[in-house]
Amino acid sequence: MNKFPEDKAFWLRCWENDNYEFFDQKDVNVHLKNYLHLFMLTNNDICFIPFCGKSIDMIYLARLGVKVIGVEISKKAVELFFKTYELDYSITKIDPLNQWVYQSNNINIICADMFDIDLSLLTNKVALWYDRGAYISIPKCIREKYAAYINHHSALISNIFMISTYYNGISDKPPYSVSDVEIKTGFEKSYDILKLDCIRNPVLSNMRLEKGATFQFFNLYKLVSRKAGHHHL
Ligand SMILES: C[S@@+](CC[C@H](N)C(=O)[O-])C[C@H]1O[C@@H](n2cnc3c(N)ncnc32)[C@H](O)[C@@H]1O
Repeated sequence: MNKFPEDKAFWLRCWENDNYEFFDQKDVNVHLKNYLHLFMLTNNDICFIPFCGKSIDMIYLARLGVKVIGVEISKKAVELFFKTYELDYSITKIDPLNQWVYQSNNINIICADMFDIDLSLLTNKVALWYDRGAYISIPKCIREKYAAYINHHSALISNIFMISTYYNGISDKPPYSVSDVEIKTGFEKSYDILKLDCIRNPVLSNMRLEKGATFQFFNLYKLVSRKAGHHHL
């Protein structure tokens, strides 16, 4: 039997069953608010949100004046995003990507499997790749694919802000436990890595306790591409 939930089917089922409360945030992510200044974004910079779901963080970023590009596999999640925030949108199929894009002022969401998208056909520069709940939402074998994708596109991606988690006990469901070593080995090929913070979760969830955890940390990293030029740690 497969030890891990099949990644895409798992997430599509979550959205279909309205089972998204376990990760969907009601408020803007506090770490995004606290650390965004480190990325020195300017107006019209592109902020890329992999696996965006219907995240409120996209609203926050767009209001600051950056251009948001999200990618989300679930059509229902994308439609819920625009409905929740009462945004008008148009849907177009963009060449040469051959994917559906939902457009609303400075928020564009591509409804697709991110791994099918050649980033260079979309943009020539991503000022910030904001990963909250993307990398840690997929099992190890898919995380390797994610790291390969990021490394492959490192000439386009200047900075990454990664919010990760590390805990002990059984890690067989999202969010998966990811160690510092894994971040290092996955991304050091093309990025300089700075650990910004390590915050201990003061109250473990029942689910974590049942799976034998005695600690959980939220780890924040800034990754700076060595190929995208003029950015420093
Ligand atoms: C834990 S949720 C996080 C959503 C969002 N980042 C947030 O902070 O609320 C993970 C999301 O990734 C989406 N997803 C999973 N695999 C994907 C893929 N290969 N391409 C695009 N989206 C994917 C899922 O549908 C789900 O909405």
